Amino acid sequence: MTYDVIVVGSGAAGLTAALTLAEQVNVLVIAKGSLTGGSTAWAQGGIAAVLDAGDTFANHIRDTMVAGAGLNRRETVEFVIERAPEAIDRLIALGVPFNTVSAAEGPDNLHLTREGGHSHRRIVHVDDATGWAVQAALLRAAEAHPNITLKPGQACIELVTGRNEERYSGSGRVWGVYALDEASGRVEAHTARATVLATGGAGRVYQFSTAPRGATGDGIAMAWRAGARVGNMEMMQFHPTCLYNLEVKNFLITEAVRGEGGRLINPRTGKRFMEVYDERLELAPRDIVARAIDSEIKRFGLDYVHLDISHMPAEFVRGHFPTIYEKLLGLGIDMTVQPIPVVPAQHYTCGGIMIDRDGRTDLPGLYAAGECTESGLHGANRLASNSLLECFVFGEAAARHILAHWDGFDPPPPIKPWDESRVSNSDEEVIIKQNWTEIRRFMWNYVGIGRTTKRLERAQHRINMLFGEVEDYYGQFRVTTDLIELRNLLQSADLIVRSALARHESRGLHYTLDYPMSAAIAKDTVLMP
Ligand code: FAD
Ligand code: SIN
Repeated sequence: MTYDVIVVGSGAAGLTAALTLAEQVNVLVIAKGSLTGGSTAWAQGGIAAVLDAGDTFANHIRDTMVAGAGLNRRETVEFVIERAPEAIDRLIALGVPFNTVSAAEGPDNLHLTREGGHSHRRIVHVDDATGWAVQAALLRAAEAHPNITLKPGQACIELVTGRNEERYSGSGRVWGVYALDEASGRVEAHTARATVLATGGAGRVYQFSTAPRGATGDGIAMAWRAGARVGNMEMMQFHPTCLYNLEVKNFLITEAVRGEGGRLINPRTGKRFMEVYDERLELAPRDIVARAIDSEIKRFGLDYVHLDISHMPAEFVRGHFPTIYEKLLGLGIDMTVQPIPVVPAQHYTCGGIMIDRDGRTDLPGLYAAGECTESGLHGANRLASNSLLECFVFGEAAARHILAHWDGFDPPPPIKPWDESRVSNSDEEVIIKQNWTEIRRFMWNYVGIGRTTKRLERAQHRINMLFGEVEDYYGQFRVTTDLIELRNLLQSADLIVRSALARHESRGLHYTLDYPMSAAIAKDTVLMP
C-alpha cells in the first residue's frame, strides 16, 4: 500500500514528525509490537528547557557542551535548545499535565527539577513518569488525526531502495520499508515518497540496560545496510542508578532523586563517595557518576551501591517520586526510610544515523529523528533530559523539510515483492536465543564502562564469527521479529566495537585504559558503509 510519507516508530520523534506532516499530507506510522513499546513511554525525569527567570540559553548550551566533552556540533546544540520552550508549549497544548509549583495552573508556574550536569533547575516533568504522559498525549492526537494511519505489529526488516524497483535502478533512493506483519507472518512492502526513521536506540545490545525489549538498533542497522553513514556509536551512555534487584532487572531510579538531594553511599564503608571523584558530587555528568560507581563496586567487590534520600521528609519523597516509591514498596524497599541498592546500566545510544539539521540522512528520500540518530546534539555524552527534547525538535524539523520540498518528492515506482521462495520455517529457534544472550554478555563484559583494545578486539572476533552464523540462518529461514532483532543487534554491536576501536583517546562515554587522555581536537567517529 502506498502513502505520502511513512514514519517508522511511534515514540516521541515519530509521532511528532507524523503530527507535523499530517498538516498537509497523509502519513502511515508503523511500529513493531505495541504503539507504546519504545523508550518514550518509560522516560521518568523529564524534558530540559530554559524556563526559569534566572536561566539562559547560553547556560543550557554550555552545560550540554560540557557534558558532551566538546564533541557536540555547536550549531545543532543552539538549534535544539533555542526551540525547547516552543516544544514544551506544544506539549501543553496537546494536554501534557506538567507539574506546577502552586495550585495556579499555567506555563509560568511549571515545576522545574534538577538533574546531573545542569547548572540550573530546568527539567519540566509529570511526577516521575513524564514519558508515559507525553506518549499518551501524542498518541491521542495522532489517533484523532484524519491524515494519520497507525499500524502496530509491523516489524521493519529492510528499507526499500532503488535496488528493489521492478525496473532495477540501483539508486540509493529510499521508497519505504519491507515489514513483517507480526500477526500473519507475511512480509509486505509499504512505499511512500519519503520515509522517516524514528526507531529509537540499541540499548538491548547490553546485558544490563534500562531500555525496553525492542531497543535493538533496527533503524541504525537498516540505514547502514542501505548505505547511510553512522557516527559516534562508541558513545553508549550508562545511567548511574538502575535498581539492583535479581527479579526486576531494568527499573531506572531517575536522576531527579539525586537532583532533589539523594546521596550515593558505599554500603561497606557507610560513606558518601562522590567527593573523591568530582566536586559536583552526585550531580556531576552521568559518565563521571557511572564510572565512580563502577570503580567503587570493583574496588570493594560490591554488588551495588546505595542511593539514599531517606534524610528528606517522607511526604516530599512520596510527592516527588510516586511511581518509584510504589514500585520499590512492592519489592520491600521503603525509600522514605531505607537506601535503594543501585548499579549502572546501559541507558542511551548517543550515536546513530548521521543527519543534518533538517533530519536528512545520506540517502535521498530518507530522514531520521530521535535516538536512532547522530545529530550533533549530544557529542560524547548526552546531558540528562536532552533526548526527548531532541525528538520533538528533529521530528518537527524533518517533517517541515519534507513539506517545504514536497514537489521534489516523486511517487514511488513499482517495487518487487519480498522474496520468500528460498526459505522455510525455522526448526532451530535455539540459535536465536543463544546468540542474543552471547552478544549481550560479551558487549557488557568487553565493551562496557571501562574499555581496553584487547577486550574490544575479543568482542570484534566474536562478532565476526556470529555474522556468518546469523546471515546463514537469515538466508535459510522465514523471518520472525526475534530474528530481525538479532540481526540488527549484531550489526549494532559491530558498529559500536568498530567505532570504539577507531577512537584512540578517552572522551566522554568512551573510556579506554590504552588511551586514557583526550586528544587536543574532538573528532566524530564516522563509519562509511
Ligand atoms: P522510542 O520512543 O524508543 O520509539 C521507537 C519506536 O520505533 C517504537 O515505536 C518501536 O516500536 C519502533 N521500532 C523500532 N524498531 C522497529 C522496527 N524494526 N520496525 C518497526 N518499528 C520499529 N530522555 C529524556 O529526555 N528524559 C527522561 O526523563 C528520560 N528518561 C528515560 C528513562 C528510561 C527508562 C529510558 C530507557 C530512557 C529515558 N530517556 C529519557 C531517553 C528517551 O526516553 C529516549 O531517548 C526517547 O524516548 C527516544 O524516543 P524515540 O522516539 O527516538 O524512540
Ligand atoms: C532520568 O530520569 O534519570 C533519565 C533522564 C534521562 O535519561 O534524560
